[in-house]
Amino acid sequence: MMIEITGVTKYYGQFEVLKNCTTHVDKGEVVVVCGPSGSGKSTLIKCVNALEPFQKGSIRVDGIEVSDPATDLPDLRSRVGMVFQNFELFPHLSIEANIMLAQRIVLGRTEDAARRQTIELLDRVGLADHATKFPAQLSGGQQQRVAIARALAMNPLAMLFDEPTSALDPEMISEVLDVMTGLAREGMTMMIVTHEMGFARSVATRMIFIDRGEIVEDRPTEDFFSHQQNPRTAAFLGKILHH
Ligand SMILES: Nc1ncnc2c1ncn2[C@@H]1O[C@H](COP(=O)(O)OP(=O)(O)OP(=O)(O)O)[C@@H](O)[C@H]1O
Ligand SMILES: [Mg+2]
Repeated sequence: MMIEITGVTKYYGQFEVLKNCTTHVDKGEVVVVCGPSGSGKSTLIKCVNALEPFQKGSIRVDGIEVSDPATDLPDLRSRVGMVFQNFELFPHLSIEANIMLAQRIVLGRTEDAARRQTIELLDRVGLADHATKFPAQLSGGQQQRVAIARALAMNPLAMLFDEPTSALDPEMISEVLDVMTGLAREGMTMMIVTHEMGFARSVATRMIFIDRGEIVEDRPTEDFFSHQQNPRTAAFLGKILHH
């Protein structure tokens, strides 16, 4: 198992945002997490790379306990790539500098090695001609592909995505989903929060539905879409599939 989440409970003050959540992502698996707004999806994936602490339970990434005070968090975060809704590129750095920075600082790569990796990744996400531009000069879909390349530059064990296409105009969504589909085909381990159900159905091995902090369903994709066992899941899918 690459990501092992066991009995995770988290509070924001008195509010129990995650309730005894247990699931896992095997090596090479693509797990899609869906659920209503405010149900705890972002919180759950932020717990996986220790961007949020939790009060009970355990999360192991490649066998390493995330909440153990002895765990080297910068090292852990470099091995678990994270892509956010709003790209989070450094606005004052060129595209290539954005992708090179952590390779240099965290992995200690030489400038040459970091640049070689950067050129290769920009080519892979279809942005080879944009290396010297700045984020503001790219479209949202292009910026998100840069963010994916930046995460991949660390040679991650797994990738986490939090609604990577929900800030994008419709015509840019597919260019980002295509890159993610490519990663899935190559066997990248991924945990993805998304409401793109067509994409989920074609790439996910498992589907998780979260409602009010609880993992209500966790089943193989075809099974999940063909018959929902829980009325909360059925109601949620009914709403988003009819939009
Ligand atoms: N830093 C915080 N302090 C207090 N409450 C928070 C904090 N962050 C999130 N919450 C609350 O925790 C709950 C879960 O938030 P989370 O962002 O994980 O939901 P989500 O499922 O990702 O929602 P969305 O689909 O809108 O992104 C929400 O009720 C939210 O208001
Ligand atoms: Mg969220």
